Amino acid sequence: MPFLSDTLARVKPSPTIAVTTKAAQLKAAGKDVIGLGAGEPDFDTPQNIKDAAKRAIDAGRTKYTAVDGIPELKAAICAKFLRENGLTYTPAQVTVGTGGKQILYNALMATCNPGDEVIIPAPYWVSYPDMVLLAGGTPVPVVAGIETNFKLTPEQLEAAITPKTKWFIFNSPSNPTGAGYTRDELKALCEVLLRHPQVWIMSDDMYEHLVFGDFQFCTPAEVEPALYDRTLTCNGVSKSYAMTGWRIGYAAGPVALIKAMGTIQSQSTSNPCSVSQYAALEALTGPQEFLAENCKLFERRRDLVVSMLNEAKGVTCPNPEGAFYVYPDISGCIGKATAGGTVITNDEVFATALLEETGVAVVFGAAFGLSPNFRVSYATADETLREACARIQAFCAALT
Ligand SMILES: Cc1ncc(COP(=O)(O)O)c(C=O)c1O
Repeated sequence: MPFLSDTLARVKPSPTIAVTTKAAQLKAAGKDVIGLGAGEPDFDTPQNIKDAAKRAIDAGRTKYTAVDGIPELKAAICAKFLRENGLTYTPAQVTVGTGGKQILYNALMATCNPGDEVIIPAPYWVSYPDMVLLAGGTPVPVVAGIETNFKLTPEQLEAAITPKTKWFIFNSPSNPTGAGYTRDELKALCEVLLRHPQVWIMSDDMYEHLVFGDFQFCTPAEVEPALYDRTLTCNGVSKSYAMTGWRIGYAAGPVALIKAMGTIQSQSTSNPCSVSQYAALEALTGPQEFLAENCKLFERRRDLVVSMLNEAKGVTCPNPEGAFYVYPDISGCIGKATAGGTVITNDEVFATALLEETGVAVVFGAAFGLSPNFRVSYATADETLREACARIQAFCAALT
C-alpha cells in the first residue's frame, strides 16, 4: 500500500516558489542574483495597519474568532464592495480566509465533483489548475495568446463551455500577464455566461487596485447584475496593501456557497489569524491615498521594463494594464545558443540559463500554461530593474 495519497500525485509544487527558493539559495552561496520571481510588493505594510495589529495584540485579541471572520471585518468588506464596486452584500454573504489562496481553495473544495470542469484562461496563476485537481475537478485551460493581449474572446469562452462546466475563473488584472479586461470586453464574456446557467463565475480581483493610466477596473457581478447570483467575487489585502505575510483574503457571494466554504474552513484551518483580521480591518477602513501613489510607482516601473525588454533581441513584451507583471514572448530566442553554450529549446531552458549565466531569476512560461514566454515581477527598485533588464538584453544579444 503506497504511503502517499493519489490526491498528492495529481498536483505539483508551485513553480514560482521553486524559482524564488533557487534564487535565494544562489544568493546565499554568494552569487550576484536579482530575483524577479516573487509575486509581492517590495514595500512595507503601511504603519497605520501595523499599529492596528499591535493594538489588537495588546487588547488581547489573540483568541479563536468566528471561523470565517470577525463581524467588524465582514462589515468593512461589505462597505468596501459597495464603495469601490457598487456591489451590495450582507455580512452573511461574506467569508474571510487565510489569504486569497484559501478562499479560492475553499470554494473549489466545496463545489467540485469528479467530472466537473473548470474553465481557466491561460496563461493563468499557477495555483488554479492544481487547486481544481486537488478538489477532484477537471481544469480546462483555454489559451488566450499575445494576439489578443492575453485576453479570452467570447468565442473562445463559448467554445469551451460544456454541460459539465461548473466554474469559469476570471482574473483581471492577471497574474502572470498584467492584462486587464475593459468593461466592454468583460460585458461580452458575461453575455456568453448568461446563456449558460450551469456555469458559476469565480472572479479573482486580487490586483484590483493596481491599474494604470485611464484603465478602469471592473468585476463581473457589477458589469452584469444578472450574474450576481452565481458569482463569487474574491479579493484580499495581500497585494494592494502590501500584506502578503498577514494572510487575509475574502470573498462575497450567495449565502449557501459562503456557508459551504465556511464548513470546509472549519475543518481545516478554522479562523484566519485574529491579529491579521484587525490589521485587515484597518487596511479597508483606514487611509486609502497610498493606493494611488503605489499605482504611479508601479506604472513607472512597468514603462521601464516594457521598453527595456522590447529592446532585447528576440523578445516581444506587450504593455499590460495592471498588476506588477509582464509576460514577454521569446519566440525569437528559441533554437539559439547562449554564450555559455546552452541551446534554448524551450522557455524553461531559457530561464535556467538566464539565471545561471546572468543571475536574473524569472519564472518560465510553461508554468503558467503559455510558452515560449517568461514572467517578470517588477515589484522591485527601479535601479535593480534597470540592471536586470540590461542583463537580459546582453544575454539575448549574445544568442547565436
Ligand atoms: C491571481 C492571484 N490570486 C490569488 C493570489 C493569492 O493571494 P494570497 O497571498 O492572498 O493568498 C495570488 C498571489 O500570488 C494571485 O496572484
